[in-house]
Amino acid sequence: MSKRIIVDYTNCMDTTLKLNGISKKKLSDLGSALQQAQKEVNHKKQAGQLGFMELPYKTSEAKDIMKLATRLKGKYDNFVVLGIGGSALGNICLQNSINHLYYNLLPKNKRRGFPRIFVLDNVDADMVKGLMDVIDVKKTLFNVITKSGTTSETMSQYFIFRKELEKRLGQKYRRNIIATTDIDKGYLRELADKERYTTLVVPKNVGGRFSVLSPVGLLSAAFGGIDIEQLLAGARYMDSLCQTNNMSKNPAMIYAALQYLMYKQGKTISVMMPYAQHLKEFADWYAQLWAESLGKAVNNKGKRVNVGPTPVKTLGATDQHSQVQLYMEGPFDKVVTILSVEKLAATLTIPSYNTHFLGGQTMNKLLLTEEKATTMALAQNNRPNLTITLPEINEFNLGQMIYLFELATAYMGELLEINTFDQPGVELGKILTYALMGRPGFEKKRKEIEKQLRKKGKFIV
Ligand code: PA5
Repeated sequence: MSKRIIVDYTNCMDTTLKLNGISKKKLSDLGSALQQAQKEVNHKKQAGQLGFMELPYKTSEAKDIMKLATRLKGKYDNFVVLGIGGSALGNICLQNSINHLYYNLLPKNKRRGFPRIFVLDNVDADMVKGLMDVIDVKKTLFNVITKSGTTSETMSQYFIFRKELEKRLGQKYRRNIIATTDIDKGYLRELADKERYTTLVVPKNVGGRFSVLSPVGLLSAAFGGIDIEQLLAGARYMDSLCQTNNMSKNPAMIYAALQYLMYKQGKTISVMMPYAQHLKEFADWYAQLWAESLGKAVNNKGKRVNVGPTPVKTLGATDQHSQVQLYMEGPFDKVVTILSVEKLAATLTIPSYNTHFLGGQTMNKLLLTEEKATTMALAQNNRPNLTITLPEINEFNLGQMIYLFELATAYMGELLEINTFDQPGVELGKILTYALMGRPGFEKKRKEIEKQLRKKGKFIV
């Protein structure tokens, strides 16, 4: 089976669409800007700023992570990630893409002795308490992940589970915690050193949403039995495909080019629609990557631009009965990316009853047919869409996909002339939370907010 991922953008071109299509000329006119974008990205890489591009080559680190997971295999029934945003979404994506869709419900032998995996990506007390109801904390390894080492959501989860562990295990509780954080900065780093936790490092030059192939994503993946070396191998393969500066041969460049041109002609919504249940959370991961990287107030020259395409996560065929009506007939403001899988792991034949037309055909064919029908119908309604096809879902191909979209995001940021790698909007929310929750050093901010809140009139029904 070919390992090559195919990007088919026929349904974005004016040769297919009567309206809203892109001409070959428009695409090739963007060529030099894209080559410049690629140069900029490579320049930043050389300057050591884009750590995500180094991650696929950190094979000895991956081996160490595998060793750690193998050494601890069988010692814990559960592995729980405490983190949020870039410190959680990649982990969820890896587990759901590769592992059995009901992995945690399988008996241990069917999980090949690996622990159940949970990722707590929120601070909802019902969810956290709910998890406590279904796990025995004594038999659980907690991986607290925060690059900054201070994020309130993650730290609150950590304090809650640390208390539970201490109640049950006393000083031995440390064995049940692995901290993944910065090498020398942040509250969690201080704490982890003081408490002598096992620690893994988030490289300084890797931002949260680009960190899935770092220890942030790899540890929980290894504990879930995922072949992390193959993930990195896939990412390296995609990196090799993206070395060319010929846009029509470079998957990341062509994706960025199409998204950019569509955005410029008013398609400000980028829909990600996998036709595979396994890739549902891939769309979630993409949404964060695209939104947090590209939604920016100012450009590189400091000019206010308020740019950024809005990513929307959707699932085929489920959303054909929900959002697709809007995509077909609503405003012309979307470009849809379909993720297609040639061969799912399972094949199911629909039994024949009363000469019903579905009888004897496979469910696989039904899904692929629905996908094809959706892309054709979208195109007939002049709705631009492209299809990215994976031969099958495995670690190698997932590694390719992750790297493709990370690199495309970097190129897209260059085309939009913004800083792809900061997130001042997220930081502001964090600061306001610290102030309102009484973090020392934020007293002035708190007073300001309280004053503002007093001033504002209320409109409540
Ligand atoms: O991509 C990002 O930078 C963010 O989504 C962060 O991952 C998120 O805010 C969590 O930050 P931290 O890992 O510092 O706790």
